[in-house]
Amino acid sequence: MRKFAKAAAALVVVSALALSGCGSGRTDTAASGSASAAGFAKDAVIGVALPQKTSENWVLAEGLFNDGLKTAGFTPSVQFANGGVTEQQNQISAMIEKGAKVLIVGAIDGSQLGTQLDAAKKAGITVIAYDRLLTNTPSIDYYVAFDNFKVGVLQGEALLKGLADRKGTKTKWNVELIAGSPDDSNAKVFFDGAMSVLQPKIADGTLTVLSKQTTFEQVVTQGWKAENAQKRMDTVLSGFYQKAELDGILSPNDTLARAAMASIAAANKPLPVVTGQDSEVESVKSIMAGQQYSTIFKDTNKLVAQSIVMAQALQQGKTPEVNDTKSYNNGIKVVPSYLLAPVIVTKDNAATVYANDKTLGPLTKG
Ligand code: BGC
Repeated sequence: MRKFAKAAAALVVVSALALSGCGSGRTDTAASGSASAAGFAKDAVIGVALPQKTSENWVLAEGLFNDGLKTAGFTPSVQFANGGVTEQQNQISAMIEKGAKVLIVGAIDGSQLGTQLDAAKKAGITVIAYDRLLTNTPSIDYYVAFDNFKVGVLQGEALLKGLADRKGTKTKWNVELIAGSPDDSNAKVFFDGAMSVLQPKIADGTLTVLSKQTTFEQVVTQGWKAENAQKRMDTVLSGFYQKAELDGILSPNDTLARAAMASIAAANKPLPVVTGQDSEVESVKSIMAGQQYSTIFKDTNKLVAQSIVMAQALQQGKTPEVNDTKSYNNGIKVVPSYLLAPVIVTKDNAATVYANDKTLGPLTKG
């Protein structure tokens, strides 16, 4: 995730609004946002509930929502729930009390907000799940996210390519797997996407997981916390890689990739191929220096802008545009979604992908 100047962020919102006006993508009418029938006041409160600051993208989203919603004429109420699920539940209840017309929710645990979301629906509020799906509730109208399964597929493919590129003297490799936090509905989707690529390679013997920890439950990282991933990797390294070389690590994001690499460094082991996600500044530097192998670029500017475009459509009494009505089932229903495409980044394409990023400066391969 990159930090853009505020003016640039506002521009992205404006151009996304213009784009949606041009009718790009498919328009579906299946969704039934409760506010879509009549619309609402131009300066209505739009509630944005964000989770904990577990990666840079969430921090960036806060500023972008505040600026973008104001630019669009709304009254933003944007809050982080660093204290956990109960805090997020209370924040959502308070947003309903305040008279919010749309709730944009990046859940800590998407399965724990049912009561609050039911109350939101009763109050006629449209609920949009942001980045993370809200699960096991009928009280959700839309989902706006990067295609999370695709993120996992790209990570799995990058791991295989990295092994061939960097460890190509062998044809069989030892790898270990890391997944994100089990309360985040994205974590399993990332893992399933990656395993759709890696499982066949484990089955045919190309890849070996010496720890035998291959199920989601065995490899999760509570709270997406670096220290939890590092602790597990320390144990795996001392238990299974005293003699053997670990060639690759599937990591679901950059924070955990750096944690895994810290564990490798502490154990004095050769650097494996390590995947990531989020384009965090430290990880992009690491990629350019030939350390971390890959990351994923999910432009937070675009995700926030798309969410605001949806709120604007609802304000005007229109049905927001979606581009997917089959992929994301939340356990109760398939949620009409607007999915954006994630981009895999390695040292080879980083300069091109981040060409517009003013904060990184020119990227040179180290
Ligand atoms: C987001 C990732 C992020 C992770 C931890 C996920 O839900 O999609 O981009 O790395 O949360 O914050």
